[in-house]
Amino acid sequence: MNIYLTSLLFLIPIFLLLRRTRKTSKRIPPGSLGIPLIGQSLGFLRALHTNTAEKWLEDRIRKYGPVSKLSILGKPTVFIYGQAANKFVFHSDSSILANQQPEPFAKIMGDRSLLELSGPDHKRIREAIVLFLKPESLKKFVGKMDEQVRKHIEIYWKGKQTVTVLPMMKIMTFNIICSLLFGLEQGKQRDQFLSSFEEMLKGLWALPINLPFTQYNRGLRESVRARDLVKELVQEKRVLLEKNGASPHQDLIAFLLSMHDEDGKQVLTEKEIVQNVVLGLLGGYETSAITITFIIRQLANEPTVCAAVLQEQQEIAKSKASGESLTWEDLNKMKYTWRVVMEVMRIFPPVFGAFRTTLTDIEFDGYLIPKGWQIFWAAPMTHMDSSIFPEPSKFNPNRFEKQASVPPHCLVPFGGGPRMCPGNELARIETLITIHHLVTQYEWKLCADNHFSRDPMPHPTQGLPIKVWPRELA
Ligand code: HEM
Repeated sequence: MNIYLTSLLFLIPIFLLLRRTRKTSKRIPPGSLGIPLIGQSLGFLRALHTNTAEKWLEDRIRKYGPVSKLSILGKPTVFIYGQAANKFVFHSDSSILANQQPEPFAKIMGDRSLLELSGPDHKRIREAIVLFLKPESLKKFVGKMDEQVRKHIEIYWKGKQTVTVLPMMKIMTFNIICSLLFGLEQGKQRDQFLSSFEEMLKGLWALPINLPFTQYNRGLRESVRARDLVKELVQEKRVLLEKNGASPHQDLIAFLLSMHDEDGKQVLTEKEIVQNVVLGLLGGYETSAITITFIIRQLANEPTVCAAVLQEQQEIAKSKASGESLTWEDLNKMKYTWRVVMEVMRIFPPVFGAFRTTLTDIEFDGYLIPKGWQIFWAAPMTHMDSSIFPEPSKFNPNRFEKQASVPPHCLVPFGGGPRMCPGNELARIETLITIHHLVTQYEWKLCADNHFSRDPMPHPTQGLPIKVWPRELA
């Protein structure tokens, strides 16, 4: 016993010493933090704006390797990319890697939105939202969304010779998400929301993309107005639910108001409902509009792909009576069209990347990342890696023919892990419905240049004006 104890007493200090030496011998990643506060922010923002951000990051990788330090938005940051890096970012425990947003951003979004929360609070709110946005729940909204898309095409496309796609798609996705989240149909109230949300979005990006401070202040003001508008809706809906004038399943607000735990307590507070419904709207309408816009652009540039999409969609259209709505089963038949959507999101991911913050010193790939630093992951660097996607610049939807051909954590337009986008199924449904109606009813060609910039989401420089004409049925 004494020998064991003596050996233990002798070994523990050696073990601790070795651990300490090992820890301190870890290197901080190579690279430079640049000028204090400014760091590399301006260079990176310029690269995003001129659509050269991929090249900007590639140059870094060539210079410093796959893990490097820099300073973005006033904070020391480590840029990482690739399969292992994505797995690390998406699946690290939230007690070591948090989703903290820069303070001005958090002020606009509010302190109880999913973006600000982690641990049990994040889990509780997220589970409630996912319950509403999961495929089985969204199934019953397919007919309604189909009706909204048709109405949109009737108003904004029918009889027109040119259409500027992005602003039109923003109106459409805004309408869809307003009715799904708020139960709000077109009208004055919805228009008030649109103007508030557009200002809020501009305000959100104002600081990261270097717009004047006044723009940020306007965004902040509008965020208060938008939350007040949603608060009113929540209160109206509460009264309706009490009088049995609304169904708990008709929209997200009604659903969240009706969720109670076993003690009869509402699962989300009113503040949490308001802030997270606003987050869903902000996170959901522009991203989907951009995805659909880039699909329309790509179909104009790729006649063979467009012909294959048309064939698949016409098969589905043929099986329906005139005016009959698409169903969940129809969407599941759109296998080729979905591959086209995935290929568009691989090459033009609406969300370039995002940040996490380390809550403790952590190690990645043999490097030390100190507590309080940001980690920056960027989807395009993995999406354009030729060892994962051969000939990455080639638009080839067939690369997704076999599901198993994409290794895990490599196709990440919706992120991954416990913070993966909860709106991915909604985005899939509205995108497939829109493409179905557009390709079966119209043909189009681009009438301006093909360029786009990121601010920070990709935008065709002129909003993608196209010439449209009705498709002649064969
Ligand atoms: C094509 C459309 C969309 C794309 C590309 C997209 C992309 C993303 C990405 C990449 C993230 C994760 C960011 C990170 O890990 O830091 C995310 C999170 C999120 N998205 Fe989406 N999104 C889309 C549509 C939607 C829709 C329609 C909704 C709402 C109904 C939505 C609501 C959210 C929310 C609430 C989060 C935060 C989740 C959390 O932190 O737990 N998104 N989205």
